[in-house]
Amino acid sequence: MQPRHFISLLDISGGEFRNLINRAIDLKNHRDPDYQPLKGQVLAMVFEKSSTRTRISFEAGMAHFGGKAIFLSPRDTQLGRGEPLEDSAKVISSMVDCIMLRTFKHETVTTFAKYSSVPVINGLTDEQHPCQLLADMQTYFEQRGDIQGKTVTWIGDGNNMCHSYIQAAMVLDFKLHIAAPTGYQPDKTIVNAAGKHVQLFDTALTAAKNADLIVTDVWASMGQEDEQKQRCAAFKNYQVNAEIMGAAHADALFMHCLPAHRGEEVSAEVMDGPQSIVFAEAENRLHAQKALLEFLLCAK
Ligand code: CP
Ligand code: NVA
Repeated sequence: MQPRHFISLLDISGGEFRNLINRAIDLKNHRDPDYQPLKGQVLAMVFEKSSTRTRISFEAGMAHFGGKAIFLSPRDTQLGRGEPLEDSAKVISSMVDCIMLRTFKHETVTTFAKYSSVPVINGLTDEQHPCQLLADMQTYFEQRGDIQGKTVTWIGDGNNMCHSYIQAAMVLDFKLHIAAPTGYQPDKTIVNAAGKHVQLFDTALTAAKNADLIVTDVWASMGQEDEQKQRCAAFKNYQVNAEIMGAAHADALFMHCLPAHRGEEVSAEVMDGPQSIVFAEAENRLHAQKALLEFLLCAK
């Protein structure tokens, strides 16, 4: 039987998503050091790209649960020397209980999953970042309750985070307004699949109107460093600042997956202001992924 993977938010139902959020909140508020459901279990973590939050949260989460995490980089494994993904997936999954991958191509994770005998978790690809959405949605639920029917506004690049927001809107049933400059719109197939959940706007200000949550991300993602200059020019009217927050509901929240660039995609005033919950959001990576590991590895 194929193991249960977590590669996209479309891999889970709305009910499962809400259960994960509730479980994450419970694990956060009632930490029991004696609860070690993953004792003796091992998570392999393959990072083709840098990470602070994802690496530490998975590693700490496995430690809390009595298990262990192994960090693998292509530089010092045979993955970086061209060993076929299929072979690597078969070998690694024969020795560990779960595999997390952070890669460039989304297909790397889907191929890995096809040949893995244990659950595979997407720790970010160029296309999606579903683990971040578990934490973001936990953070929203903690502060405001269920997000169903609410309006979330995405401002900036139609990137991996934007795509995962689109899929979260489908699974949790909220409205997503997107303002992205021409040439940096989200993938059409992903947008079209979301139907009425997604609406595209020409300006950041019109997209922000009546929002309950405003979200943005860096203008140049990992792997796009060479495009930084041209992207800064293309995105100059897409900064989340006080004017944008002023167009949203008075109690609107601000989120950013981090790392952030104050003065680019977000003003320092908003990033460090009272509506910003970015550090609670970052901490929740730990709790949300503990709930995910439990869901994937301890399911009866
Ligand atoms: N938000 C996020 O995934 O952060 P890292 O790149 O530090 O893991
Ligand atoms: N869009 C960003 C997210 C980082 C967590 C990137 O891919 O670099």
